[in-house]
Amino acid sequence: MQLKSRHLLGLDGVSREEIGAIMDTAFSFKKVLKRPIPKVPTLRGKTIVNLFYEASTRTRFSFELAEKRLSADTLNFSTSSSSVLKGETLKDTIRNIEAMKIDFVVMRHGASGAPHFLARCIDASVVNAGDGIHEHPTQALLDMMTIQERLGKIKGLQVVIVGDILHSRVARSNIFGLKTLGACVGVCGPATLIPREVESLGVTVYPHIEDALAEADVLNVLRIQLERQKGGLLPSTREYRQLFGITRQRLEQTNRKVTILHPGPINRGVEIDTDVADGPFSVILDQVTNGVAVRMSVLYLLAGGKGKFEGEGNE
Ligand code: CP
Repeated sequence: MQLKSRHLLGLDGVSREEIGAIMDTAFSFKKVLKRPIPKVPTLRGKTIVNLFYEASTRTRFSFELAEKRLSADTLNFSTSSSSVLKGETLKDTIRNIEAMKIDFVVMRHGASGAPHFLARCIDASVVNAGDGIHEHPTQALLDMMTIQERLGKIKGLQVVIVGDILHSRVARSNIFGLKTLGACVGVCGPATLIPREVESLGVTVYPHIEDALAEADVLNVLRIQLERQKGGLLPSTREYRQLFGITRQRLEQTNRKVTILHPGPINRGVEIDTDVADGPFSVILDQVTNGVAVRMSVLYLLAGGKGKFEGEGNE
């Protein structure tokens, strides 16, 4: 299957069929990754630039690894070692990089909409690796793959996203993707950090974590992003933990098996306790593993989805 757009800028407007194709292909790539030599020649000859204007561990490494597993040539850009420090603009930076004949740009940027701007400026395909407080589509895709893997379905599940929904690109992409796949989506957090219009997306608001825990099959626990807090919208981290922290005691009180996701990095002892993050219901490291397969899938399908990869000989 070929995706409708040559870019992946968000999950808003991406169809159920396309998300299904990305996830199915990711599960196939996951089998490739278990081979003794986990590499296929699918993107041989393609050049991919990883353009990270914001810090990242998981997303940057898993894109890099996905690209290497697909045999693409890769260039890694970070602001601290580039001419951005000399004042070069985003547009000039990318036009210079594009002049070197590239096929894909994977971009993380602190400004919402930066990858959309980039997609209008260049011929290469653009993949959004997280833009400001807007979207983080590959994170939501790997979250959904992990839920599908653990629970065998997504349709009909109650998935509650807990934390600072207002500033969360992970929450927005999850809401779009999960709703498209037929999940019942809820959000839970301090009223000041829940966007006013969120119910218009078909999402239930849980003001109290106990009510969310009483109904949730899955909790996606967001990081409290202290760097994005302005204007005193967040109570102290101590108060946040008391009201919304995912603790073992809270989980035991529900008497239900709730699958726990977290996009990382984790603030242990703030939004989630260590014995929950590392406990039997946590799939946090499975999310990281699945991130590589999802990013392989996205790049493969954006490149046209041509060429077999299952059963192909290893290099
Ligand atoms: N989940 C996520 O985006 O993590 P990084 O910021 O480490 O990439």
